[in-house]
Amino acid sequence: MNPTPQILILDAGGQYCHLEARKVRDLGVYAEVRPSETPAAEMAFAKGIIISGGPRSVLDPGSPTVDPAIFEYGQPVLGICYGQQLMAHLLGGEVRKNEKGEYGLATLELEDVADPLFGGLSGAQQIWMSHRDSVGTLPPGFSVVGRTSTCAVAAIADTGRKLYGVQFHPEVVHTTRGREYLSNFVFKVADCLKDWDPRHRAPLIEQEIREAAGKRSVFFFVSGGVDSTVAFELCRRALGTERVRGVYVDTGLMREGETEFVQRMPGITVEHAEEQFLGALAGTIDPEAKRHAIGEEFVRVQERIIEARHILDEQWILGQGTIYPDTIESGGTAKAAVIKTHHNRVAGIQKLIDAGRIVEPLKSLYKDEVREVGRELGLPAELLDRHPFPGPGLAIRCLCSEFDAPLRETDEGVIVPVHSVGVQGDERSYAPVIAIDSFDYARATELINRLRSVNRVVAPVELKAPLLSMEVRACSLTPERLARLRQADAVVRRLSHESGYDQKVWQFPVILIPLGMAEAPDSVVLRPIDSVDGMTAQSVPMDGELLRQMSRELLRVEGVAGVFYDLTHKPPGTIEWE
Ligand code: XMP
Repeated sequence: MNPTPQILILDAGGQYCHLEARKVRDLGVYAEVRPSETPAAEMAFAKGIIISGGPRSVLDPGSPTVDPAIFEYGQPVLGICYGQQLMAHLLGGEVRKNEKGEYGLATLELEDVADPLFGGLSGAQQIWMSHRDSVGTLPPGFSVVGRTSTCAVAAIADTGRKLYGVQFHPEVVHTTRGREYLSNFVFKVADCLKDWDPRHRAPLIEQEIREAAGKRSVFFFVSGGVDSTVAFELCRRALGTERVRGVYVDTGLMREGETEFVQRMPGITVEHAEEQFLGALAGTIDPEAKRHAIGEEFVRVQERIIEARHILDEQWILGQGTIYPDTIESGGTAKAAVIKTHHNRVAGIQKLIDAGRIVEPLKSLYKDEVREVGRELGLPAELLDRHPFPGPGLAIRCLCSEFDAPLRETDEGVIVPVHSVGVQGDERSYAPVIAIDSFDYARATELINRLRSVNRVVAPVELKAPLLSMEVRACSLTPERLARLRQADAVVRRLSHESGYDQKVWQFPVILIPLGMAEAPDSVVLRPIDSVDGMTAQSVPMDGELLRQMSRELLRVEGVAGVFYDLTHKPPGTIEWE
């Protein structure tokens, strides 16, 4: 049904591998992802090959590689990030490990060269980097055409052989001219012709649902969010409303008013399981353990419902609103590192997937594409414009600590021993936070690139006591702390809605951290971010008056000692703290 791909993306485990394929399809050229080691002879039909980024070092034994024959077939090849390093390594150049990484925004200086890929793009421009290794010595035949202040080899070309490499990520939105690089590669270097219309997706997806379901019915876990609602609606269209049952599980980890909101949607029943979930989470501190516990409880709820209704296994399958980043960050493609296990990727669900008992209509799409499909289906803007909210709910925004721990003052700032998850060079990190005394993004970025012991930077907005008099206390996920977070979240949601700020940001997580003093043991972190697809994100500054108003109201929430602002982009900090 789909055309023969003109461009193949070789998956070296990069977080952005499928994004690369999609960006090429968005240009109107059909592209598909293949395992990195696919033999060159099996790809001879393609007009061009892209080697993706990846979390490993080409210098490590067993790291992903490609069939070196691809460089000899005369096909154009573009290596991105790890792909550039791998290309250099295999063709006789040298890759070296660096002391300092380069994560986030950087400025590329591109030379003025006569070349189909780089020609016309010269000058200083914003790019997105996420790497530690870099190319030290070029392979024969190549020359450097672009560099940053940290990376001397940021873009390379062997124009004669049509072999190219970029250390930066042209597929992410933060690389401002990224689309032009890809477009030049696809049309000017690889001579592709337009053969794909990226706009009409729903009929294709509905066909896939019918094929996956056969004669069976679908039980669909919905959350009230964009992804599961769009996926649920696609199933209802594909199979008819009679064969699709929507179940919303109240886990006790939802935001204020959420269950009431979902109850008003058609075709959905509410299953109460608050005590079950809170029981399973009692005493759990580690983020991955929380995520697993929540995922497995979802499986139990589903088993209970099926049993109570006396439905036979052969008669039904489970539907989920999983989208592409859920899969990739759970380590769901061949070589990607596990950043976070999403609740819809735990062992119990994996068993159903292996048995062909799951349908996930959106699993290769990103958030912005899901919204486009939602618009194609005619779903209301009120629903499609909702901010993303993670399946594990408030549990992963309510941080816990195993120990009492003091803060530590350093030359750079105050180390707060609350650990949060990050993604650096496509790999997971789990490290403490550093608090600095100003909303200085340049300083925050410099610190994160330099200090390996922290992965996030915050600045205090307002505190009830001096920061150094506070401490981090041992604590877990209690109903009391969840209620505190729910209340803080509701304050932020209300004020950002009333001021229209919620329409200016892509998502606005509110996090509770166990930092405070005896009478007020927790602090609130504000994390408004801008993103297109959730894979990369930028922390965004906020209007001072609104921030002061929020902070005043938050300090009135019982038990809150301080309000902080998260200055970290993604990478190196993920959007959620866990
Ligand atoms: P991170 O924190 O990985 O988040 O930068 C990227 C986007 O995904 C959302 N998110 C989740 N969504 N289940 C979900 O359905 C999850 O386990 C999960 N974890 C993160 C997050 O809110 C952000 O929009």
